[in-house]
Amino acid sequence: MSDPREIAAQASLLVAPKSLRGESLLITAGGTREPLDPVRAITNRSSGKMGFAIASEAARRGAEVTLVSGPVSLSTPPGVKRVDVETALEMREAVLAALDGTTAFVAAAAVADFRPAERADHKIKKEALACDGESPSLEVRLVPNPDILAEVASRPAEAGRPEFVVGFAAESRDLIEAARRKLERKRCDLIVANDISRSGAGFEADSNAVILVAPDRPEIEVPLAPKSEVAAVLLDYVEAELRVGRS
Ligand code: CTP
Repeated sequence: MSDPREIAAQASLLVAPKSLRGESLLITAGGTREPLDPVRAITNRSSGKMGFAIASEAARRGAEVTLVSGPVSLSTPPGVKRVDVETALEMREAVLAALDGTTAFVAAAAVADFRPAERADHKIKKEALACDGESPSLEVRLVPNPDILAEVASRPAEAGRPEFVVGFAAESRDLIEAARRKLERKRCDLIVANDISRSGAGFEADSNAVILVAPDRPEIEVPLAPKSEVAAVLLDYVEAELRVGRS
């Protein structure tokens, strides 16, 4: 461990206040990759940075953290148990396998809503495709993926619903209305809504500007800040809600 960044990260892990000690956080991050054939896949632009920042901050605060990640090019934060997956079906399986004992679930992954109905065993070749005049055409039928967040959040407590469930909503218009609808439909306790049309926020960026939307509460605006700071504000909220839920 001679990399100075690694040493700094480990040191920060030691000195942080352990306000999440005893908690078990399960976090999803990154996009999923839904294969069409051995070389092609449907995916999205999620970098995983927001989910990794939350995992890193939660571990710094002393939580036991499991991070289920789609394919990303990020290193595992110190103190975090990471499970790598590729598809939405694999992500669901990994989440359900890690759910037992989880006190808070944070679904930060950009899960593909659909996957190709069939995955070809061999590379799809143009000469084997139907021809529409001169050019070959390929029709891909997509089938829906399970909604991992909705499935976890709608479990009864005795079947392992975590005490606090957080979802994300990336929207390009009607941000708050869409987030409120998502909150209700997916039965979560908090939606972190972000406006993906805003520059410097959302996919791929190192910063984010979000609005926290909870049932029967006014929204809380978190102005543009590094994702590590947004993660800290979110975890302050989760900590407070876990305390209130138990009092
Ligand atoms: N999510 C999930 N499993 C899915 C799809 C989404 O767990 N199959 C989670 C994401 O991790 C995120 C939240 O649900 O926390 C928001 O997902 P999103 O795709 O934005 O919402 P949708 O319900 O698909 O609505 P739409 O795409 O129409 O906005």
